[in-house]
Amino acid sequence: MRIKKGIFITFEGIEGSGKSTQTGLFCKLLEREGVDFVKTAEPGGTPIGEKIRNILLSVEHTHMTSKTELLLYAASRAQHVEKVIRPALEKGQVVVCDRFSDSTLAYQGYGRGINRDLIMRLNNVCTDGIMPDLTFLLDMDVEAGLARNRSANKVDRLELEGVEFHRKVREGYLAIAGDDSGRVRLIDSSGGIEEVSSVIKDEFMNFLMTGNYVV
Ligand code: TMP
Repeated sequence: MRIKKGIFITFEGIEGSGKSTQTGLFCKLLEREGVDFVKTAEPGGTPIGEKIRNILLSVEHTHMTSKTELLLYAASRAQHVEKVIRPALEKGQVVVCDRFSDSTLAYQGYGRGINRDLIMRLNNVCTDGIMPDLTFLLDMDVEAGLARNRSANKVDRLELEGVEFHRKVREGYLAIAGDDSGRVRLIDSSGGIEEVSSVIKDEFMNFLMTGNYVV
């Protein structure tokens, strides 16, 4: 399959929503279709970003303030956009990113309660206005998601937050999906891996056709 121009696709969701698994399966689909793509993730995606990720997710840093947290995610994103995302899009590649600016609005905005306008302005500074063309928001019950991660022994600083925090994050994501329904596809990720992956594939094909992206 030949794509006409760069497309920026993000995967978002609460802890344990299957986001990383689905990002991987989606990239396998692109590979099978012969699409030229870049797979990346936030926080991270660059050597500096990976160092910032370690600071952000370390369980030793439970005393980190909300503002410090916000600025570190922003710093990782600024580096990532300039060094990886923008150049790939300019080359006409498809960029598949596990989390992006919606995560900041959901976690630092709705979760931590930081002012929405401040977050939007900061996101705009880091991204230079680059927004995803398509976002898959994987949605499921908060407790079930946290339990999934616990059974996989995945624990980081954000996962240590109480269930109330994660409920606010989910509500935030649902509000974002409601506000931007043209970009965000809300996917029920409580089902089996293959089932969810097939819904994502159908949504993607639909997006390509209606957006006239295929040569
Ligand atoms: P994950 O990508 O492995 O799920 O871990 C990243 C963690 O960082 C996750 O708990 C969500 C959180 N996060 C934010 O709080 N704000 C952000 O802007 C991003 C990108 C991630």
